[in-house]
Amino acid sequence: MAWGPGSGPVDYGVAVAGKATFEVLALEEYAQIEVKYSEAYNGLENPQGDGPFAFANALAATFRVETFNITEPGNFTGYFIQGSQRWQSVKLVKGSGLTLGNPAFISSIDTTPVAAQDGYFASSNSMYTDIWALGPRTNQMTCFAPGTQTATWDITENGAYIRGQKPASTAKIVNLSNYTLTFEAMIDYGGTGWRVDTEIDAIQATGPIFVLTSEYPDGSFANIDRSLAPPNTLVLGRGWSLQNQTSLPGYVLDKFPLKVNVTEKVWHKIETVSHGDDTYTVFLNHEEIAHFNISSYGIGDPNPYIPGGANKGFAFGPWQDQATYIRNVTVTSNNGEVLYTQPMTSADALIEYGVQTNTDYVQSDSGKRDRFSWMGDRLISSRATLVSTADGRCVWGPTQQTLSRQATSGQIPANTLFSPLDTVGTLIRTINVDPLVADYEFDVLMTIYNYWFRSGNDTFLRNNWNTMTATLSYAVTRTLDDGTQLYGAPNGANGLPLSGEKGQALGPGNTVSLILGLEKMAEMAEHLNDSFAADKYRTQAQLSRQAIDQLLWNSTGGYYSGSLDTSGYDAMDIAQVLLGEIGTAARRKQFLGKLDALKLPAGYSNGTRFVGTPAVVNPYYMSFLLEGLAMANETALAQGLLDDTWSPMVRRDVNFTGALWEYVSPNGSYPGLDLFTGQSHYWGGYSTAFLTEYALGIRPSAVGYSQFVFAPLPSFNVEWVQGRVPTPHGLIYANWGYGSNGKIIMDIKAPQGTKATIVPPFPGKWTCQGRSGQGGNVTITGNARLFEV
Ligand SMILES: *[C@@H]1O[C@H](CO)[C@@H](O)[C@H](O)[C@H]1NC(C)=O
Ligand SMILES: *[C@@H]1O[C@H](CO)[C@@H](O)[C@H](O)[C@H]1NC(C)=O
Ligand SMILES: *[C@@H]1O[C@H](CO)[C@@H](O)[C@H](O)[C@H]1NC(C)=O
Ligand SMILES: *[C@@H]1O[C@H](CO)[C@@H](O)[C@H](O)[C@H]1NC(C)=O
Ligand SMILES: *[C@@H]1O[C@H](CO)[C@@H](O)[C@H](O)[C@H]1NC(C)=O
Ligand SMILES: *[C@@H]1O[C@H](CO)[C@@H](O)[C@H](O)[C@H]1NC(C)=O
Ligand SMILES: *[C@@H]1O[C@H](CO)[C@@H](O)[C@H](O)[C@H]1NC(C)=O
Ligand SMILES: *[C@@H]1O[C@H](CO)[C@@H](O)[C@H](O)[C@H]1NC(C)=O
Ligand SMILES: *[C@@H]1O[C@H](CO)[C@@H](O)[C@H](O)[C@H]1NC(C)=O
Ligand SMILES: *[C@@H]1O[C@H](CO)[C@@H](O)[C@H](O)[C@H]1NC(C)=O
Ligand SMILES: *[C@@H]1O[C@H](CO)[C@@H](O)[C@H](O)[C@H]1NC(C)=O
Ligand SMILES: *[C@@H]1O[C@H](CO)[C@@H](O)[C@H](O)[C@H]1NC(C)=O
Repeated sequence: MAWGPGSGPVDYGVAVAGKATFEVLALEEYAQIEVKYSEAYNGLENPQGDGPFAFANALAATFRVETFNITEPGNFTGYFIQGSQRWQSVKLVKGSGLTLGNPAFISSIDTTPVAAQDGYFASSNSMYTDIWALGPRTNQMTCFAPGTQTATWDITENGAYIRGQKPASTAKIVNLSNYTLTFEAMIDYGGTGWRVDTEIDAIQATGPIFVLTSEYPDGSFANIDRSLAPPNTLVLGRGWSLQNQTSLPGYVLDKFPLKVNVTEKVWHKIETVSHGDDTYTVFLNHEEIAHFNISSYGIGDPNPYIPGGANKGFAFGPWQDQATYIRNVTVTSNNGEVLYTQPMTSADALIEYGVQTNTDYVQSDSGKRDRFSWMGDRLISSRATLVSTADGRCVWGPTQQTLSRQATSGQIPANTLFSPLDTVGTLIRTINVDPLVADYEFDVLMTIYNYWFRSGNDTFLRNNWNTMTATLSYAVTRTLDDGTQLYGAPNGANGLPLSGEKGQALGPGNTVSLILGLEKMAEMAEHLNDSFAADKYRTQAQLSRQAIDQLLWNSTGGYYSGSLDTSGYDAMDIAQVLLGEIGTAARRKQFLGKLDALKLPAGYSNGTRFVGTPAVVNPYYMSFLLEGLAMANETALAQGLLDDTWSPMVRRDVNFTGALWEYVSPNGSYPGLDLFTGQSHYWGGYSTAFLTEYALGIRPSAVGYSQFVFAPLPSFNVEWVQGRVPTPHGLIYANWGYGSNGKIIMDIKAPQGTKATIVPPFPGKWTCQGRSGQGGNVTITGNARLFEV
């Protein structure tokens, strides 16, 4: 395929991931091209593409526009992995006579076709066939096998060679005050960059950003944004980057023009003095080039609503389309004591700065942006993986990585980097965002339970039981309020109430995570014959169950209050009460009646994730709700929610990626956070598990599917569904649908070693293998067909 300046954008049809590659067919002298990537088409209309993604430095490109210097014919391959994109464009910025061909990606992910997975699902309503496929496809976009996500720095004898990216931090030395950071930089092209006093891999970014630009000699990229980054200038920024991207604000505070030329390809010595009182002084080759007080600009202060980021340090990484060598880094205290040295000439620097190629199976939230391993989100995403593939590596692999990073307190990291880390880097990062999402500690234990219960493989439990019990006791101690037995210790860090991803402090949302975490751990404890632990966990779970029912039920309003000190609730409170089967069926039914008032076209409101950002529908929350509705046999509500939240993701328009979206706009017409939205984001993937477990109706009722049910939701509105479900005994094949007489027929093939209990989704009479009945159920082995009569 010919491709090049003047030809239209490339459309890969669905999201792809890897290193951009193309063939240079003809070239006069040399040329420069600007290549842009985007998941949604309209990112191509934006100067920054759909980026930049300065959220995480996570073994992929930060920038979604890359300028390439083309100097010879032949195949050209980009340096960075671009994590997820469907669209790509190219613009010639310098040179002439350039012809390109064969644009593609050298894939950094598994690309086995969905149809070749062990699990399978199809329906007369092809929308459901497509929704199911989003799960296994997003698993591929976000689960990375060892060695696939390549280092983003190169170590050379001249130090670390670093191309433009979000500055990567060391955790070796943190929370310093009144010190000097010194290093040598040799700019290869464009400029060099670093930060100091900024949160390490957290979800804040408040220390100064420094970008020192070169004199831009002949041959520099012709498309440099010289108003943002003039030559021979120290650009001072704050926030996530020098550009804004939706809820990642970036600020340019100042520009300090230099009286000297900043020459490329020679060494410069750079000293940054952090005086400890918000003032900074920067020296270039011993000449002062800037002195300022960062708070005097009055912008970019830490967001008080986002706790996390207890540890601050320094980081290295230049701006877009720049490349620099960095060597001989030292930190000295104001009295001259050397606190840190790093020559940057050996590979240990890659591990220290968290930019080394992954050695574990790792799981990202998103292909392109949220490239952190958030363990709580995997409670949902792993469910989709388990029904669609028999390969558990993407479930236990990332979980193993998470547990291997446990602190002595028992805490495991809410999010973690893909890179291998050293001991101190692990510790600092593990405790860094506490207590932001302490509920995730319970979620990871439930993820392990789900893997064990479906796979029957208890190796993980046996190998990690001590780590798991330590995680649980940390999480309970950290979150349980002794006075009420609800989740929400009164003294969260930074003086903020302790809440989690699932809702407010002292409400049902997170208390149900605590209860279910304890109860699943009790089941696993029993399996391992640790009945002492099992009893202890059940007793606490029971106390917390009673607490929700006694302290939070508002009988006037007919709801469980979302918090002890305020009235009201949100959709997540309703979801969690259903999932935990809290209280009586009558109370749950009454609470469920409140859902209608929260209805939006694309699901249910909730909510404002960050203060100041517009309302969106969150498929992660909707996933909890979908399962809660399914468990309560609320077929119409469940099917309606499936249609409303997930159908926008399978509409074949310019925003289709073949993968799950992170957010959906309230009216369902576009990805909820515009270009920022991860459109291969796995936290909202319960839809795939729902279709297998409740539309097809196959769910395990004993460990490893030795017993399972074939129990579709009554009145699920389709003509037929069919599917396969992987189990350790082999594949279960099932289908059900309506015969020409309008009556339901159900087929099941239970592999050897399993028993199936068929629960007809209709109240009337049936026959099955010579047996007959009305309602109830029938247990079979092998193959069976049930007829409604
Ligand atoms: C470029 O790579 C393609 C395969 O992607 C190969 O067919 C072609 O021969 C290569 N061209 C050169 C000049 O190496
Ligand atoms: C691009 O290549 C040309 C020719 O080798 C060179 O003169 C120029 O400096 C290069 N530009 C960059 C930014 O690397
Ligand atoms: C980013 O947006 C904020 C708030 O709208 C604004 O104050 C700031 O100047 C913007 N930053 C840039 C680099 O445009
Ligand atoms: C910087 O370089 C320009 C040419 O690019 C030259 O005219 C000027 O004298 C140089 N300035 C200094 C201070 O060396
Ligand atoms: C930093 O250290 C210097 C030298 O010891 C001292 O004079 C100064 O007061 C210190 N600054 C702060 C903010 O502590
Ligand atoms: C490294 O930097 C320190 C402090 O700036 C300096 O004393 C030392 O000579 C440098 N070492 C090398 C090998 O350049
Ligand atoms: C069971 O789980 C362990 C990881 O805990 C894994 O190494 C092993 O391959 C799994 N066994 C099977 C049969 O999948
Ligand atoms: C849900 O939405 C309500 C109202 O918009 C808000 O008060 C609450 O904080 C949201 N909850 C979460 C978990 O986002
Ligand atoms: C119970 O709910 C009613 C109706 O929403 C409300 O007016 C009342 O304040 C609530 N009671 C408490 C104790 O929150
Ligand atoms: C849901 O419906 C099925 C079949 O009609 C029945 O067996 C089951 O008990 C019901 N579950 C609940 C929670 O009502
Ligand atoms: C695609 O998504 C963008 C936002 O990311 C939105 O503005 C646009 O309207 C959507 N286009 C279609 C056809 O839905
Ligand atoms: C099947 O029926 C028996 C007897 O009524 C009942 O105890 C059991 O819970 C039912 N199982 C399922 C899965 O519905």
